[in-house]
Amino acid sequence: MKIAPSILSSDFANLGKEITNVTEAGADWIHIDVMDGHFVPNITIGPSVVKAIRPYSNIPFDVHLMIEPYENYISLFADAGADHITIHAEAGPHLHRALQNIKSLGKRAGVSLNPSTSETVLEYILDDVDIILVMSVNPGFGGQSFIHSQLNKIKKIKNMIGELPIDIVVDGGVTKDNISVVKAAGASVAVAGSSVFTSHSKEIYKKNILSLKSS
Ligand code: DX5
Ligand code: ZN
Repeated sequence: MKIAPSILSSDFANLGKEITNVTEAGADWIHIDVMDGHFVPNITIGPSVVKAIRPYSNIPFDVHLMIEPYENYISLFADAGADHITIHAEAGPHLHRALQNIKSLGKRAGVSLNPSTSETVLEYILDDVDIILVMSVNPGFGGQSFIHSQLNKIKKIKNMIGELPIDIVVDGGVTKDNISVVKAAGASVAVAGSSVFTSHSKEIYKKNILSLKSS
């Protein structure tokens, strides 16, 4: 299982160093939570910060846009150095068009679903998506508890995608105690914020990532 540390729980005063450290500690992707204070009740970072931290790591930047509307920002995050751009199905009416836009910029296209959103919204876009991100907490904050009903959703999505080369990502409340059930349900990537950045040192990140991977 791939681990994508969410930098939401990192030390923002030393973001570049944090990203280098977590990369060297064994992260597979860097998960970047973009929040607008409108779609979600929190504000984080924009494209200029993504651009500033890009040189500090050579692994994929997995940008999770919790913003509404998202249309005008896709190309800005692409130019800033995002490798994956994930938008929320709830944040706009033109999901299919937006996914094609992301792909036309040469990036992997992702769709995220809030805990209350049914997987049925994916039915007609499966050929246009590279990443499906299942929110296992309500988006907005790190450090929340895993919502168990999402395991069933992950299983249903796994069945829907069959052999299609789509990553199923689970985001929110993932710990060493629940990562095995998340994997068993069919997820291929786990986002982990507070369970990786428990204190700010490369050795701790290495230990935490290893413990997630071996659990
Ligand atoms: C929540 C974010 C998550 C969050 C995960 O809105 O999308 O990526 O940072 O943090 P933990 O692992 O602490 O739940
Ligand atoms: Zn996220």
